Amino acid sequence: MHNKGTSHDGTRRALFFALLLALPPALLGGAYYYGYRERPHRPVQPVPFTHASHTDAHKAAMPCVACHNGAEHTAGAGMPADSTCLQCHLHILPQDARLAPLHAAANKNAPGYTGDALRWVRKAPLPTHVHFNHGQHVRAGVTCAQCHPAPDAQVPHRMSACLDCHRNEGVPTDCSRCHH
Ligand code: HEC
Ligand code: HEC
Ligand code: HEC
Ligand code: HEC
Ligand code: HEC
Repeated sequence: MHNKGTSHDGTRRALFFALLLALPPALLGGAYYYGYRERPHRPVQPVPFTHASHTDAHKAAMPCVACHNGAEHTAGAGMPADSTCLQCHLHILPQDARLAPLHAAANKNAPGYTGDALRWVRKAPLPTHVHFNHGQHVRAGVTCAQCHPAPDAQVPHRMSACLDCHRNEGVPTDCSRCHH
């Protein structure tokens, strides 16, 4: 009776410690999952660029393809050359400290000029096993905003969004269309 109780307690204790050990990784995993899926942080960019200042009608009112000109014809939308930014920023906010890295990258007359292009950090890349072609979608009349409603935010692209639209539009949805 007594022995049985002790071995039962032993098992309980072993189980308790096993759970205790499993808890920190489970919490970390949960925090990582929560942080990554639900509250993504924007990566630190070389310059604190916002789309709002550049695309809003009462601001610079630029069309998306003025900077991402690959989107109409090629697979990748592409990032603007630093010289595109300088076309305005030699004159707009020319002394602003936020733009110092831009001048260092591309303005030969700037103090601290290096000539090293700005390196933007991708916010929402697809995994490599999925292929996506911008030109194919933009030519079919899908707008940038349908897939990028908030380009300043970090919003991962979801397979379910691809499939919802494809089903609505009668586009094939077999796996191999999108996956290698
Ligand atoms: C067509 C002109 C134009 C071009 C091209 C342009 N900008 Fe701007 N930029 C503006 C205007 C207008 C503002 C808002 C100025 C203000 O608030 O007084 C601005 C503001 C900014 C700011 C201040 C933060 C913000 O977003 O309000 C940063 C940083 C910036 N631009 C970076 C860039 C970079 C990097 C590029 C190239 C990828 C670029 N700009 C291209 C016109 C331009
Ligand atoms: C003045 C140039 C400029 C214009 C105009 C512009 N962008 Fe951008 N875009 C950038 C720069 C610089 C970045 C990198 C910084 C960042 O991620 O915000 C960027 C990043 C992005 C990203 C993030 C992609 C990723 O996975 O990292 C998307 C999506 C995007 N732009 C869509 C748009 C759309 C849609 C429009 C029109 C509403 C637009 N852009 C107009 C310069 C521009
Ligand atoms: C049908 C949905 C869809 C449409 C329409 C679309 N995009 Fe994208 N965009 C994506 C996806 C998905 C990615 C991620 C691709 C990857 O990582 O391979 C992306 C990536 C980007 C990027 C990151 C850089 C790059 O070269 O991939 C930019 C910038 C961008 N899009 C801008 C635009 C602009 C501007 C338009 C409109 C002219 C546009 N997109 C239209 C879905 C779309
Ligand atoms: C808002 C609507 C919409 C969204 C969202 C969308 N697509 Fe599409 N997609 C289309 C349309 C429309 C076509 C047909 C284009 C044509 O007629 O050539 C298409 C075609 C395709 C094709 C070629 C299919 C074929 O004929 O073999 C691929 C691959 C593809 N999309 C991948 C994606 C992926 C990956 C995503 C999500 C990241 C996505 N699409 C999101 C509308 C969409
Ligand atoms: C229209 C394009 C499209 C089609 C069709 C499609 N997928 Fe996807 N799939 C994606 C995109 C985009 C992602 C990455 C985003 C995500 O994980 O939601 C993805 C992610 C996945 C993942 C997750 C992989 C990971 O990295 O976690 C699996 C598994 C998957 N797809 C399986 C399938 C299967 C099985 C089918 C066929 C029944 C299919 N997909 C059809 C676009 C597509």
